[in-house]
Amino acid sequence: MSSSTLTVTDNRTGKTYDVPIEDGTVRAMDFRQMKTGTDDFGLMLYDPAFMNTASCRSSITYIDGDRGILEYRGYPIEQLAENCTFLEVAYLILFGELPTQTQLDHWVYEITHHTMLHETTKKFMESFRYGSHPMTMLISTVAALSTVYPCATNVHDPASRLLQIKRLIAKMPSIAAMSYRHSLGFPYVYPDNELSYTENFMNMLWKMVEPKYAANPVLARALEVLFILHADHEQNCGSSVMRAVGSSLASPYLAIASAASALSGPLHGGANEEVIRMLDEIDSKADIPAYVESVKRGKRKLMGFGHRVYKNFDPRATLIKKIAEQVFGVTGQNPKLEIALELERIALQDDYFISRKLYPNVDFYSGLIYQAIGFKPEMFTVLFAIPRTVGWLAQWQEMIVDPAQKIARPRQIYTGSRQRQVVPIAERDAVEVTA
Ligand code: ACO
Repeated sequence: MSSSTLTVTDNRTGKTYDVPIEDGTVRAMDFRQMKTGTDDFGLMLYDPAFMNTASCRSSITYIDGDRGILEYRGYPIEQLAENCTFLEVAYLILFGELPTQTQLDHWVYEITHHTMLHETTKKFMESFRYGSHPMTMLISTVAALSTVYPCATNVHDPASRLLQIKRLIAKMPSIAAMSYRHSLGFPYVYPDNELSYTENFMNMLWKMVEPKYAANPVLARALEVLFILHADHEQNCGSSVMRAVGSSLASPYLAIASAASALSGPLHGGANEEVIRMLDEIDSKADIPAYVESVKRGKRKLMGFGHRVYKNFDPRATLIKKIAEQVFGVTGQNPKLEIALELERIALQDDYFISRKLYPNVDFYSGLIYQAIGFKPEMFTVLFAIPRTVGWLAQWQEMIVDPAQKIARPRQIYTGSRQRQVVPIAERDAVEVTA
């Protein structure tokens, strides 16, 4: 018998099965053969929230949550953050290799020349209610791009896929900036092709009457590094949604809107906005012990703490602390930093957090930096969605060309009633129901 098998004895029947183990994984479909009789559907695996289920094979991002390791295509995040531009890392994540200078120049040119939005998209955005949340405007507008590019549903055509990839990476900052300016009632600023990806984004956000916008180089680089840190994170909630929606061969614009919707939630990318609200609520260092006690009593969560995969430290959080120093050197220190540092210190000494392996995640400090650069909290998740678009598209592309993938369709354990008879409405007894 091969040593790389799992022997399963079904005590209901006494039958024994050898199930192959490959890459530390057994195939769920190998359990379907385990039946009590011909009417039995076969054994299924129950895994709510996919705590222990691999849904794909992927060569994009490697995470070792226990050791705090994050690599894109095998390159440590620390080296990429130190040495590369965001579009260089985007090329790596999408195509698997770092570009040469010639390849990078061509890639940057291509992205730069897809940043404009169709004028109808601008008009579409103008109709959003004043004060709409920029993240929901971004999500809705990306979904609306599916009407501008109906041919994008040709997802099996590699040339079409690449075109949509370029458009989406290029247009996300344009839409994000327009969402921001719309929420302030400012006129939209068109892209400037002479600027880098992050400088142009800053130009579209903050240019007022000056003829040419000049971004602060330290802040532009800080934003670039933050974009690199957020570019991909393997099968997180948003990327899983991207793959699931994409698996039905829906338009990539709709799949990106779906993934961004998943990201917007406070347990995922929306946590960065919640961290700032939490620090506002805490107000002073003296309030921290009482706040931590209320977390331990289960009244609330410590936002920006904990991670499904990282159980030691989040390497992105470590890098973000360094960026914070550089940014605060230009902008002056965010007054909430002291509260954040004290909150972290107290939490990391507390058995509640130690025993549950709860550490600051990427979102704990990113909001403080964004706020110091000049972003309102409502923009924080938008700033996450722009770079994560690269990861979503890489995951989508990998899924589309993977012959093992099909339309995503989990099973369920049915727990409801069966075979009830409809009683005429006049004869029904009222039953108390809850949502
Ligand atoms: N504050 C207080 N307690 C927490 C926190 C927290 N931030 N996170 C987890 N716990 C507790 C849980 O209550 C649970 O305790 P219990 O065993 O007594 O029931 C235990 O730690 C394990 O937590 P789970 O919820 O099982 O962990 P899971 O992997 O499902 O959740 C998550 C991960 C969603 C990130 C969670 O830690 C959380 O809600 N954190 C706050 C929100 C946040 O910062 N999200 C951003 C994550 S990073 C990102 O998505 C980009």
